[in-house]
Amino acid sequence: MSKNPVIKFSNFSEKLKDVVIVPVSKDGSVAAQAAHVGGEGFVSGLIAKAGFKGKLGATLETYLAEGAGAERLVLVGIGDPAKLKNDDWLKIGGAAFAKIGKSSEANAILAVEGLEISAEAAADFALGAQLRAYRFDKYKTKKNEDKADAKDVKLTIQVADAAGAEKAYEAAAEIGEGVLLARDLVNEPANILGPVEFAAEAEKLEKLGVKITILTEKEMKKLGMGSLLGVAQGSVRPPRLVVMEWNGGKAKDKPVAFVGKGVVFDTGGISIKPALGMEDMKGDMGGAAAVTGLMRALAGRKAKVNVVGVIGLVENMPDGNAQRPGDIVTTMSGQTIEVINTDAEGRLVLADALYYTAKTHKPRFMINLATLTGAIVIALGTQHAGLFSNDDELAGQLFDAGQSSGEKLWRLPLTKEYDKIIDSKFADMRNSAGRPAGSITAAQFLKRFVGDTPWAHLDIAGTAMDSPASDYNESWGSGFGVRLLDRLVRDHYEA
Ligand code: BES
Ligand code: MN
Ligand code: ZN
Repeated sequence: MSKNPVIKFSNFSEKLKDVVIVPVSKDGSVAAQAAHVGGEGFVSGLIAKAGFKGKLGATLETYLAEGAGAERLVLVGIGDPAKLKNDDWLKIGGAAFAKIGKSSEANAILAVEGLEISAEAAADFALGAQLRAYRFDKYKTKKNEDKADAKDVKLTIQVADAAGAEKAYEAAAEIGEGVLLARDLVNEPANILGPVEFAAEAEKLEKLGVKITILTEKEMKKLGMGSLLGVAQGSVRPPRLVVMEWNGGKAKDKPVAFVGKGVVFDTGGISIKPALGMEDMKGDMGGAAAVTGLMRALAGRKAKVNVVGVIGLVENMPDGNAQRPGDIVTTMSGQTIEVINTDAEGRLVLADALYYTAKTHKPRFMINLATLTGAIVIALGTQHAGLFSNDDELAGQLFDAGQSSGEKLWRLPLTKEYDKIIDSKFADMRNSAGRPAGSITAAQFLKRFVGDTPWAHLDIAGTAMDSPASDYNESWGSGFGVRLLDRLVRDHYEA
């Protein structure tokens, strides 16, 4: 919602402006390119007197004397340069950006003693700033004037390979746009963003060359999506299934597929949720938001891959037409489900969305994202999303992408014994089997709809929203999954 800062790259001869940002390694060392700011010995004197230890993401700011070339100096710690990894440069960029202040022009002198800073690292620094700059304040009629207004900030990043960094950031900025889109969608309240409105937002990706197909209730009925439709029937707002296709790969290559749970609001339905905290359930479309943001990212950077994104958009409401506990629905796959708990609705939506995706698009693999269970928050908190898979290679690639992007995953088991628990007395399966292993039984349920397709399920209930603020995210909606899956595609599936 907030506008991006203007970010440029240059070599080290660029003249300083209002603010100058200088990276400091652990134990207070500063590269020669930055050591002269404020006069010879000033930076090292300041570091020593202030006891600044250069801890990763730590900052120290001070005003500079007249004639120093800039008004303000911001030191940003980078820790041990030999150990920089994963999302560290995002953290450094985010932490530094927060200190620039509104309406300022800043120079970051991105040089570190004994370390060659790659174009990718510089682009990550920029992306960290872009992600930190995001705010969702469109409904605040009085803006918070204390915070930097990103649209007025100009940041020039001075780095050895400025041309390379500029090129790398061209792609990274598109990934950033994808993350910000996902955050916007998650933060938006459900009275504004219903299934139809969400579908309209996805449709906007057409201008980036994404092919959009929107299935209405009527079309889903024809396909036999009784499971998805059963969830939707208690809401006056009709459901939508949106298919987004980006064909950046070779014409004959099978697509990779991403599927998202898009419950625009989850009251629990007739198995209604308690009032306390229910407002958070506007974020129960975090999976669909991530898939949409990912499509935005991949199309924006023209990824050389064929990819299909499918999102099931419904609202889970209790009304006179809502489905009841005990109801039995027939899925598109033909399998029947006894609805034990109408609050276990995400798996009902995904059952049809996953089956449809596998059948219609025959993908190389299928990864779904869903704010599926409260149990995953109990198991993993906000630090990891749950990873479930029927394919060890895909699971390994995902785990690695999680480590390198900082959007971390932790794998949990799928076994026959867990599968048995979801058998039903009256139908092929039941949608809830109580609290024990709640995230696993939910995953076993999804597995019954993917056939032989290599598949992974990411339970993002703890990571998509309400995660603790970080150096590069202060937003309630995190956009979790966009950078992770872009990384996966980039590392393994692009020509
Ligand atoms: N959307 C919720 C899961 C959720 C909980 C997401 C907390 C984010 C934060 C999901 O639809 C749900 O209600 N799951 C139930 C399943 C149960 C009824 C089997 C749960 O986790 O309690
Ligand atoms: Mn629910
Ligand atoms: Zn839900």
